[in-house]
Order: sequence, then C-alpha cells, then structure tokens
Amino acid sequence: MATSKAKSIDRNTQPVIDQLIAHTASDMEAVNELLLSRVGSHVEMVPEIANHLINAGGKRLRPMLTVAAARMFDPEDKQHVSYAAAVEFMHTATLLHDDVVDESDKRRGLPAPRKIWGNAASVLVGDFLLGQAFMMMVEAGNLEALGVLSKSAAIIAEGEVFQLAKSNDLTTNVDEYFAVIKAKTAALFEAATEVGAMAGGADETAREALKQYGAELGIAFQLVDDVLDYGGVSGTIGKNVGDDLREGKMTLPVLHALQHATDVDAQFIRKNLGDPEADQATIDRVIGIMKSSGALQITLDRAYEHANLAKKAIAPYLERDGAQLLSEIADFCVERAS
Ligand code: IPE
Ligand code: IPE
Ligand code: MG
Ligand code: MG
Repeated sequence: MATSKAKSIDRNTQPVIDQLIAHTASDMEAVNELLLSRVGSHVEMVPEIANHLINAGGKRLRPMLTVAAARMFDPEDKQHVSYAAAVEFMHTATLLHDDVVDESDKRRGLPAPRKIWGNAASVLVGDFLLGQAFMMMVEAGNLEALGVLSKSAAIIAEGEVFQLAKSNDLTTNVDEYFAVIKAKTAALFEAATEVGAMAGGADETAREALKQYGAELGIAFQLVDDVLDYGGVSGTIGKNVGDDLREGKMTLPVLHALQHATDVDAQFIRKNLGDPEADQATIDRVIGIMKSSGALQITLDRAYEHANLAKKAIAPYLERDGAQLLSEIADFCVERAS
C-alpha cells in the first residue's frame, strides 16, 4: 500500500481549474495583453464598454481551452495566442448581445453594459469586438481556421435566434433544446479546441478528437449554466438567478419540471414563465419545484453524460502534455458553482 500512499502524496491537489490556469499562464498573459490592445478606438465609448466587461474578469475558459489544446501538440509559433484572443472576443461579443436579447441586468458580478450604456451601444460594441476578433484571425493567416471560427459565429447567432423563436413555447421538446445549446454555446467551445489543435499542428484524427471534446464539453457547460440559473447563487454566478424563468427560456429544467412536477406545480411554472416582473417569492417557489421534481438533478445527469463523452474523445491522447488536465476539466465544468 506504500505505492498508493506515495501516489496520493504526489498527486496535485490544487483544484483542476487552478491547474489549467497555471498550465496556460504564460500564453494567457499574452492573450490578455492582446485583448486589451485591441479595444482601442478614438470613439471613447468603445473601450469604455469593452473594458468594463474585460476587466470584470470572467473565467477565460474558452481561450484557456484553445491554448491547452494547442500545447497538447507542438505549436511552432504563437498562432494559438491570436486564436485564443479571437475566441474570447467572440465570446465577449455574444455576451454583450445576449444580455440585450435576454434583458439581463447583471453580468460578471457587475451591471450588464446595457444597464449603463443602453442596448444600442451594447449591440454596436459587440459588433466592434466581433470585427476585431476576425481581424486577429486573418492576421494569424490560416484560412481553414478562419473558416472554423466564422462558421461558429454564424451558428451561435442562429442558435440564439432559434432560442428566441422558442421562448415561452410550451410545445418545445428536448431535441429542440439540445439543438439550441449545441448552437449557441457548444459551437464556440468546439471551434476553440479545434483551432487550438490546428494551431498546434495536430493531425486530422487528433483535430477531430479535440473538436469532439470541445463540442461535448460545451453541451455539458450550458446544461450546468441552465441548472445554475435556478440552483446557483447570484453572488457566485455573477448573474441574477431566475432570469431564465422571467425570460421564458425553455431550458431542460423547465421542460422536465413541466412534465414531471405535480399538476399544481407545473401550472405554477406555466403561469409565471416569461413574466419579466416575477418576484423573488415566485422565483424561490419555482426553484423549490425544480428541486423537488428532480429537474435540476436530471439536467446535471445529462451534463455528466456529455462530460464523459468529452473525456472519451480525448482519451486516446492522455499521454500528451496537459491532456489529463483537459480530461479533468470536463468534471469541473459540471461541478462548478460559477
Ligand atoms: C456565459 O459563459 C455564457 C454561457 C455560454 C453560459 P461563461 O460562464 O464562460 O462566462 P464568463 O466568461 O466566465 O463570464
Ligand atoms: C449563453 O446563453 C449563450 C450565449 C451567450 C451565446 P445564456 O443566455 O444562458 O447565457 P447567460 O446565462 O446569459 O450567461
Ligand atoms: Mg443570457
Ligand atoms: Mg444562462
């Protein structure tokens, strides 16, 4: 048993997210510098709004995935830094747009930009960031990677529109929900890890594996985001709990509760879904229903399934630098509280 003891002493006990931060630190420093250097504009409101969001932090998960995916292989130059920055700008742009569409008041623990500068400015600065993201991709000079990221930008927007079309639609089914989250969220995770692998010089099979890993991770990530909207803590998630209910978002917890809660409880959800004025007592009762009907647990179970598929995709490459870390990040994405 001496062996297993020695093994447990050797094991890195740092939380896996901190290990990923440490693993990608030097490249991420370059990514952050690049982000800050690209928000400049003679129009003052542009850097003001962009910096508000960038400096508010955010997990920087997607660019870390791009960097880590590249480092599993043998990146000759720093192309992956440009792609990682482009991915984070695309993400920031979608957040600016998403908070307008969702009428959300809080983002990254601060007032959403639309609450300070208004919807119009938020949309336009989102467009600016998207433009800057594409400039960085072009400068990196790989037409195929540009294609991967451009395609994901179109898919994300399409997913957001599909979700909008389905809001408050009680006929929405689970397949449609998954189609929405694959598009609006998983597409960017998928592109982030795929371009990372490409920048690292991965062969076709490995590139496909990393692409698959990102796609499954992204699905798990959004499933958990949808759980946290009911089961999370506002101060921790940096957003308001209950927004998805107020917005009439047909997420998996809602779909499950409508089917499996008691008639009275399901009726209560139907009555309050899409009511922007739903008060805290209403949200609290809905959270109770989400828990008692098993809706949050079922959603988490589905997230674990997809996290396991992500791990499976990367399994053939576990001996590569940082791959074990990426495998464990799949669990982090499900167990996270923020
Ligand atoms: C929020 O993403 C948008 C979703 C896809 C759920 P994150 O939770 O990664 O947001 P930040 O970047 O850490 O703020
Ligand atoms: C995230 O969807 C998808 C995008 C931002 C494209 P959500 O609407 O669930 O994200 P949050 O909860 O506002 O971060
Ligand atoms: Mg939103
Ligand atoms: Mg959400």
